[in-house]
Amino acid sequence: MKILVVGATGTIGKAVVAELASRGHEVLEASRKGKLQVDIQRPESIKALYAKLGKVDGVVSCAGDAAFGPLGELTDDKFTLSLENKLMGQVNLVRFGVDQVNDNGFFVLTAGIFSRNPMPGASAIAMANGALESFARGAALDLPRGIRINAISPPFITETAKAMGFPTDGTMPAKDNAKAYAAVVEGKDTGKVVFPGD
Ligand SMILES: NC(=O)c1ccc[n+]([C@@H]2O[C@H](COP(=O)([O-])OP(=O)(O)OC[C@H]3O[C@@H](n4cnc5c(N)ncnc54)[C@H](OP(=O)(O)O)[C@@H]3O)[C@@H](O)[C@H]2O)c1
Repeated sequence: MKILVVGATGTIGKAVVAELASRGHEVLEASRKGKLQVDIQRPESIKALYAKLGKVDGVVSCAGDAAFGPLGELTDDKFTLSLENKLMGQVNLVRFGVDQVNDNGFFVLTAGIFSRNPMPGASAIAMANGALESFARGAALDLPRGIRINAISPPFITETAKAMGFPTDGTMPAKDNAKAYAAVVEGKDTGKVVFPGD
């Protein structure tokens, strides 16, 4: 299948690209500074990318920024970033991408474990993640032509934990997390939230 991966150069995205390519899919890699350029926080940028691409079989988003910090330090700007980037950035990939996706195609969005197991400082991220999960469940009922949508809520990724100097107990290597994305891409489910490692 011909699959657009947004956030293709990131810790999660790189592994997803490698996994999908190893399974014989044609992967189109996009990010702000990548081969194909898009800024999901800017609706016009998403529309321009789709206009350039033409039809694809599916879109996998591994991008989305939200603010980390104690609730008392989360300013309006930080909430706005979390809503406009992680949440609406991915929602807009779906809204503006529906006509670009072939019949029986798919969208896969990335939320995150903080929706279910937050930690102090994660309230804005948890908010965006929970909303993405609910969006996927709801949008699945509206998408036309057999198009599926699912959200994946990855656990803390080993490479990220290492880069941040955190212990790696209970984390998941990006390569293993990517297998959950491939399973959703190649499966039949819609309106589901997948927690890799469950
Ligand atoms: N890593 C984890 O432990 C973990 C766990 C659960 C959930 N998540 C979620 O998974 C997603 C990806 O995480 P990650 O750790 O892989 O992040 P990352 O390593 O920072 O990579 C982010 C990717 O998205 C691209 N990107 C960033 N802002 C963008 C924008 N505005 N428009 C388009 N592309 C953009 C980046 O490339 P450019 O800089 O070229 O744009 C890069 O390819 C995030 O939503 C994160 O919250 C991560």
